[in-house]
Amino acid sequence: MEANIVLLPGDGIGPEVVGAAVQVLDAAARRWGHTFHYSTYLIGGCSIDAYGTALTAETLAACQAADAVLLGAVGGPRWDDPAAPVRPEQGLLGLRKGLGVFANLRPVKVYPPLAGASPLRPEKLEGVDLVVVRELTGGLYFGQPKGRTQEGGRTRAVDTLEYSDFEIERIVRLAFGLAQARRGRLTSVDKANVLESSRLWRQVAAQVGTEFPGVALEHVLVDTAAMRLVANPASFDVIVTENMFGDILTDEAAVLVGSMGLLPSASLGGDGPGLYEPIHGSAPDIAGKGIANPCGTVLSAALLLRHSLGLEAEARAIEAAVERAIQGGWLTRDLGGTLSTREMTAKIVDEVLRE
Ligand code: IPM
Ligand code: MG
Repeated sequence: MEANIVLLPGDGIGPEVVGAAVQVLDAAARRWGHTFHYSTYLIGGCSIDAYGTALTAETLAACQAADAVLLGAVGGPRWDDPAAPVRPEQGLLGLRKGLGVFANLRPVKVYPPLAGASPLRPEKLEGVDLVVVRELTGGLYFGQPKGRTQEGGRTRAVDTLEYSDFEIERIVRLAFGLAQARRGRLTSVDKANVLESSRLWRQVAAQVGTEFPGVALEHVLVDTAAMRLVANPASFDVIVTENMFGDILTDEAAVLVGSMGLLPSASLGGDGPGLYEPIHGSAPDIAGKGIANPCGTVLSAALLLRHSLGLEAEARAIEAAVERAIQGGWLTRDLGGTLSTREMTAKIVDEVLRE
């Protein structure tokens, strides 16, 4: 097949890990006889430097017209001034909103050989295989009003956590569908003892649940969920939650697998293409050193093949390649190994082309 993929390498280690993922995509294309056309655009800090804005209309239009979008990371100390009118993160948020990708899937699977790389006891990690479905275009990140006001010499800052029943319904329904195709357990995470938006969330989740008799739904408060995620992570199958709760819980979940560098994500649900990105940030401390772990972005590329291009065998081959590499002890430094980004990528490419 032929497909047009927009690459948004972004800042910090973004270009290194996206470069790695392209090599792996090309290996899959070679093996299965596909042609992937790439076009590359700026996003985040590098776009601010070039155009004064973190996401240009041209970049957004190119993404909307593509079959899929693969993004590295945005941000860095150069653009971190809290008083700055433009921030790299606006590019990412604008892109998610502009593509309408309301469902962010973050699968978390522990690789048994890496159980020692997590600060948790290995026996806690046995059987951990969960997916966080994070609502991505609403909630506290986007609610209005938002901003600052001055009154009587005082400054006030406002963020709003807001959801309509429609926004909750579509994300929860997607999560139920996913749970049905997996182990049939859905944990809806909220703060319904305090927040009105959470009480609506809980009500809508329960309603949608009546359509999915085969899925066991439980409601868990976000503070309890944070604790259970480290105390008993294997007890989760699918978690569905508000935008910022999901942001926080998925960083916590990364601790289970041993490194932020391993986790991929897929953002879906819009009319247009899906957006694929690792969950890690731009890691300015190691940017340009060639030592970043490419696995999170490579696995995001696998999700791209599966969800946007329908190439299940190819996606599985990449996931299996990463798994075999890790099983064989091929590890980057974040996991206690010595491999460079290039060496790790070459190993994954070899594994994809094998068999
Ligand atoms: C993530 C990141 C982003 C988010 C930042 C960079 C805006 O932390 O994708 O998890 O908060 O969504
Ligand atoms: Mg985050």
